[in-house]
Amino acid sequence: MRIIKFEDLDALSEYGALLIAETVNDNNKCTLGLATGSSPIGIYEKLTKLYKEGKVDFSGVNTFNLDEYVGLKENDPQSYRFFMDHHLFDSININKKNTFIPDGSADDLESVCSEYEKLIEEHGGIDLQLLGIGHNGHIGFNEPGTEFSKKTKVVELSSSTRQANKRFFSSIDDVPTYAITMGVETIMKAKKIVMVAYGADKASIIHDAFFKEVTPLIPASILQLHPDFTLLADKEALNNI
Ligand code: GLP
Repeated sequence: MRIIKFEDLDALSEYGALLIAETVNDNNKCTLGLATGSSPIGIYEKLTKLYKEGKVDFSGVNTFNLDEYVGLKENDPQSYRFFMDHHLFDSININKKNTFIPDGSADDLESVCSEYEKLIEEHGGIDLQLLGIGHNGHIGFNEPGTEFSKKTKVVELSSSTRQANKRFFSSIDDVPTYAITMGVETIMKAKKIVMVAYGADKASIIHDAFFKEVTPLIPASILQLHPDFTLLADKEALNNI
């Protein structure tokens, strides 16, 4: 595990974007695992800038997102598909056919999950997986108590996660109760994992996840065991350690 501390979110995002651009420039047909939430937005902005400056070409790249809410259509402004289009895909030269996000509006969610795992394998696995972290230690939507061995699955969201995410909805009742998420096993299979965390409100969970023992009660703690895991954090998230 490597931990890199930054002065601020801007410097962190610049570094994260360069790491991703480097992965793409090494292999222009690579497969990226992407995340939503506020943490990666700065990285997506910097990646868009690198693309506009001609420093990275996404035309052959494949992407798989970590998760999606159940019950939202892809054109719903709260869906993660909408988020990704808005924050990244619409601004770079990626082929939308190569951008995969679980379809949370499908009737048969179980087959969406097994198909997603199959597709990731068919694309050679994930070269670099980007992650944020929930205040309760969730990664993707793998909530505390989740089995480390699980693959892509349907999960019920914890009330703390629904509360945290209600800022994007008009009321708590509009926040979906279920989601599809890559499992911990899916995430751990990525060749390289990069987590982004910023702000004082993440300091306590960062401490519990990476400076204590590995436990399913804090799903992110398993990342300590990944052979190529890097945490990019600002000084507030590291509690000025
Ligand atoms: C959501 C996403 C997670 C993300 C988390 C943290 O629950 N499913 O993938 O890591 O939010 O979001 P933020 O970066 O806004 O704190």
